[in-house]
Amino acid sequence: MSWRPSLSSLILLLLLTFSCSLSAAAQTQPVDAEGHQWWQHAVFYEIYPRSFADSNNDGVGDLNGISSKMSYLHELGVDAIWITPCFPSPQVDFGYDVADYRNIDPMYGNLADFDHMVAEGRKHHVRIILDFVPNHTSDQHPWFQDSRSSRTAEHRDWYIWRDGKAAGQPPNNWISIFGGSAWTLDPATNQFYYHFFYAQQPDLNWRNPAVEKVMLDGTRWWYQRGVSGFRLDAVDTLFEDPQLRDNPVLDGTNKQGDPNMQNKNNTNFPEVHEVLRKLRKVADESDAVLIGETWTANVDELDRYYGQGGNELQMPMDFMFTTVNKLSPPEFRRQIAAVDGAHGWPVFVISNHDIVRSYNRYGDGKNNDAIAKLMGAFYLTLRGTPIMYYGEEIGMENNDPTRKQDVKDPIGRTGWPQEKGRDGERTPMQWNTTPNAGFSQKDPWLPPPPSFQTHNVATESKDPNSVLNLYKKVLALRHTNPALLEGTYTALNQDDPNVMSYLRAYKGKALLVALNMSATPQKIVFNLAPQGFASATLKTLIASPKASFNRNEVTLLPFGLLIAEVKQ
Ligand code: GLC
Repeated sequence: MSWRPSLSSLILLLLLTFSCSLSAAAQTQPVDAEGHQWWQHAVFYEIYPRSFADSNNDGVGDLNGISSKMSYLHELGVDAIWITPCFPSPQVDFGYDVADYRNIDPMYGNLADFDHMVAEGRKHHVRIILDFVPNHTSDQHPWFQDSRSSRTAEHRDWYIWRDGKAAGQPPNNWISIFGGSAWTLDPATNQFYYHFFYAQQPDLNWRNPAVEKVMLDGTRWWYQRGVSGFRLDAVDTLFEDPQLRDNPVLDGTNKQGDPNMQNKNNTNFPEVHEVLRKLRKVADESDAVLIGETWTANVDELDRYYGQGGNELQMPMDFMFTTVNKLSPPEFRRQIAAVDGAHGWPVFVISNHDIVRSYNRYGDGKNNDAIAKLMGAFYLTLRGTPIMYYGEEIGMENNDPTRKQDVKDPIGRTGWPQEKGRDGERTPMQWNTTPNAGFSQKDPWLPPPPSFQTHNVATESKDPNSVLNLYKKVLALRHTNPALLEGTYTALNQDDPNVMSYLRAYKGKALLVALNMSATPQKIVFNLAPQGFASATLKTLIASPKASFNRNEVTLLPFGLLIAEVKQ
């Protein structure tokens, strides 16, 4: 039988050749002469999908809501959005308990809505990053349902099952980070299963090659659907000691009332890095980026996440920066210098869905807006990629529950009142002054704080001095100024306890950033000769409030910020 191509098979062949050459071309092409990749020039923005925009007015945000805000995001200066898990889930941990890795939770829409969101994103030059939860699934995931059904089930070894030490006694002393033993006895088979987080989040067994394969394939599936990368959840917890040895117990108890413990035998195993290298290989097929939820104790640990020759995560987040919880130039200088000296590209965040908003953490209660602007001007002008948290750009504040019965986040209920949970930093985005901050016509799943009347997109768009307009100006500069995109970072006046200042320089041109982190006016003198700008003068590009200067002497008002061009 001879094979004669039909018109449709010819078209298919052409399409295949075209898409193959597209994905080959997609492989990690630098975007500039410095060899930088797209994610090094991009500004990322984290979206908690329950809380961003509610298109169907059921009180919970959704993907069509996100699609409807793409022009807002683009005009703000956002290039990529990371959406926390939007997959089918019983929502015990608000999506971080995934019941199907290849679909969308009906509460957020469906796959067609997802495709529409990708298309809207492309139209507005906003890439989509999803959240990949490799450590655990939901207990409602069919894999776990099968796994718990019998000791010989096909998926039994996909999770971590063990006999107790003695009748009713867990296999070891490991504590779940969300409270109580990390082991739950399942009566169906009379064995315990392991969960680093809630009992409804059983840990996958990454030592089983079938688990590894299905998870790697899962990321490829989404890349082929138009996703530009993943934020990897809780990567340090993927592996446990095969012998399940007890963890060392430390003094005192935590907020959940459990003994403090050093998670020596259930976190940070070297095997994590093997998995990251494999995930990276798949990501590289699509020029995708991997962002890590990398809580590390020091820069050496953070450095390891980049991998040898940069073959693991391109963007491990530097959470040590977020632990500088005061406006302290010396501490920020130390932290930035440490990360700047690591072997990869720095990644800066000041807020996310697990920590109190930066507006509250840095604010002094009186000058919060000025401080919010200062912090924006700070981390958006450093050498590295910033990841914003939705609402940060309008000075959104935490709205913590005041009564236990209002708490939605389970750790806030078990840990009340010491631990109020994470609801406060997850409230609806504040769009305007209409009821529910314009997020939804129905009462939202969490209430916005009363300050939405002043801190919202509509009101702030009209005010040239708003936090929002300061963010817009800084982001616009960041996208166009070569010193901010490519330049070196040099700390200046390093003994100054009040003013954080630095130079970003590239090819003989430079920007000076000076941030008064104190409540009193500060006069500073800059000597830029060692940086090759001996007779330079400064020209204001962005200042808030107005800075006054005389050649290289600058006076900044309390919490004042200045971004100036250094003119030779
Ligand atoms: C990560 C998420 C957090 C979640 C946990 C368990 O830390 O950021 O929100 O509760 O993982 O998946």
